[in-house]
Amino acid sequence: MESLLSALQEKAQADLAAIRARPELEAAKARLVGPNGELTALMKQMGSVPKEQRPALGKRINEAKAHVQALLDAALQRVVDGEIAAQVGPAIDVSLPSPDVGPGTFHPLTQVREEMCRILRKVGFTVADGPEVETEYYCFDALNTPADHPARDAQDTFYLPRDAAFANVSKHRADERYLLRTHTSSVQIRTLLKGPPPIRIVSPGRVYRRDTTDATHSANFHQLECLYVDRNVTVRDLKALLDYIFTSLLGKDTKTRFRPHYFGYTEPSFEVDLSARHLPKVNKEWIEIGGCGMVDPIVLDGVGHDSKVWSGYAFGMGLERLAMLLYGIDDIRYFYQNDVRFLKQFA
Ligand code: DAH
Repeated sequence: MESLLSALQEKAQADLAAIRARPELEAAKARLVGPNGELTALMKQMGSVPKEQRPALGKRINEAKAHVQALLDAALQRVVDGEIAAQVGPAIDVSLPSPDVGPGTFHPLTQVREEMCRILRKVGFTVADGPEVETEYYCFDALNTPADHPARDAQDTFYLPRDAAFANVSKHRADERYLLRTHTSSVQIRTLLKGPPPIRIVSPGRVYRRDTTDATHSANFHQLECLYVDRNVTVRDLKALLDYIFTSLLGKDTKTRFRPHYFGYTEPSFEVDLSARHLPKVNKEWIEIGGCGMVDPIVLDGVGHDSKVWSGYAFGMGLERLAMLLYGIDDIRYFYQNDVRFLKQFA
């Protein structure tokens, strides 16, 4: 019996030392200590041993059992260590410089924004900036938006709590609320308040609306706003500028058209449609791209510029929509996921 136990221990030691994977370990465990295992079989032979030898033999079997269990535990630990090492991968020296990933690229929205600003700078526009946290005055009141206009509704606009305070965004009225701007048109008012015309600005930036995200909507997106105020500005000037910027950005075959619309801050107002059948994935004739019109005299007089002297045009459009058209992108969410496979296509 003693020799059988010693032989079993030795064999178990050699077998278990070679084991690297869980299935082999489970099989070895069953073979040794399972209900039909080798050690179990030896234990069952206790009954046939003379009574006086049983205590010593029992002790010896328990020793063998403990020994085999220790070998199994050690083998399990090795398997687990191996699994973790396989997940973690080869050791790295974290003090070394990271591997060269090559130069980065501009995000497609940045590219379209910069290209539009470049096109507009060529005809005398300068870039103006405005805060994303705005007050009701800049976003709605000064733009002649009625108090009950749906755009002001909390369903559409993100308002900040009444007790929120922003030292760098001053209120016009004490009871005004802060909000996240719903359009870049607020920059029109900020610019008009800075000084007298002539004014010629382009203002790209992020805007916020309470929208449920899907392939064409996002609760924050980007717009590009233009404002031109001077003497004797006409709708013809507006149409000519829009034709110029869209043919510059999208190609000479691009056409624009106006459809009558209503905006509180322009009179007359139009929606602007584009025709650009030469672009990828464009499968209809006219695509709505933004809003525009002649600056409403109420807005000019409201900020202290005499509307009998000055006139102007304004327009605003979505940058995502423009980039989607230009590059044939069919889901707005790609812009915000920062997936390198998407981004590197615009290198
Ligand atoms: N603010 C409008 C919007 O977000 C777009 C717009 C329309 C801008 C007419 C303008 C304008 O400057 O004159 O839908």
